[in-house]
Amino acid sequence: MIDAERRAALEVIAGEVRGCTRCRLAETRTRAVPGEGDPATEVVFIGEAPGMNEDREGRPFVGRAGGLLVDLLGHIGWQRDEVFITNIVKCRPPGNRDPEPDEIAACAPYLERQLATLDPSVVVTLGRYSMGRFMPGVRISQAHGTTVHADSATGAADATVFAMYHPAAALRTPAIERESYEDVARIPAVLVDTRERRAANARTARRLTATEADPAATAATATPATATPAAEPAAQPVDQLSLF
Ligand code: URA
Ligand code: SF4
Repeated sequence: MIDAERRAALEVIAGEVRGCTRCRLAETRTRAVPGEGDPATEVVFIGEAPGMNEDREGRPFVGRAGGLLVDLLGHIGWQRDEVFITNIVKCRPPGNRDPEPDEIAACAPYLERQLATLDPSVVVTLGRYSMGRFMPGVRISQAHGTTVHADSATGAADATVFAMYHPAAALRTPAIERESYEDVARIPAVLVDTRERRAANARTARRLTATEADPAATAATATPATATPAAEPAAQPVDQLSLF
């Protein structure tokens, strides 16, 4: 998908979210918070739910937790508008209570469609609820700083999931804040590894397609020595995130 198509698809989803009444959170929200960021990004951050400030502004992570998220991104030289930031549920639970399972389930199709549109290389989960969608049954104290391959049922076709603590937890507990800075510093390497894996998969897919189109190509593609790396398209988009 080209950037303009992605942007348009994300806008369609955001429009539906802003008018959504699929769960009871619609009754108490001020504004729904679809999420925002670069439609061409390789990295998506997923929090839990909007809080008071987000509910007021209709934008994710604009309060104190958002301030820490921006600082964490700054630690690896990234800015918030270079990634995409959203939440598991798009409307504020009253009094910032935890989202209920039926609310998470009602809202899940929006996140799935966002991930299918963005096709990120890396999905960073922020907190237990977000992690639970991608790494069911694990404890955040064990799983933070680790990766799994995303189940394609999440909407992300070929992503590495990286778990982090929620920034609000880091604001409450200095040890968690320190660990969050250590964790975020691993993301560029996770992105590099995932780019390489995805580029290799794309090369394999192109060879298979070429073989189908031209059976005579089979012999050539079966021989590593005949591979011509210089002819491969660049694996990295020009507007990629800077890595270090
Ligand atoms: N906490 C979240 O999980 N999401 C936000 O958007 C803001 C705070
Ligand atoms: Fe709709 Fe999600 Fe908001 Fe519930 S939380 S009303 S499902 S957008």
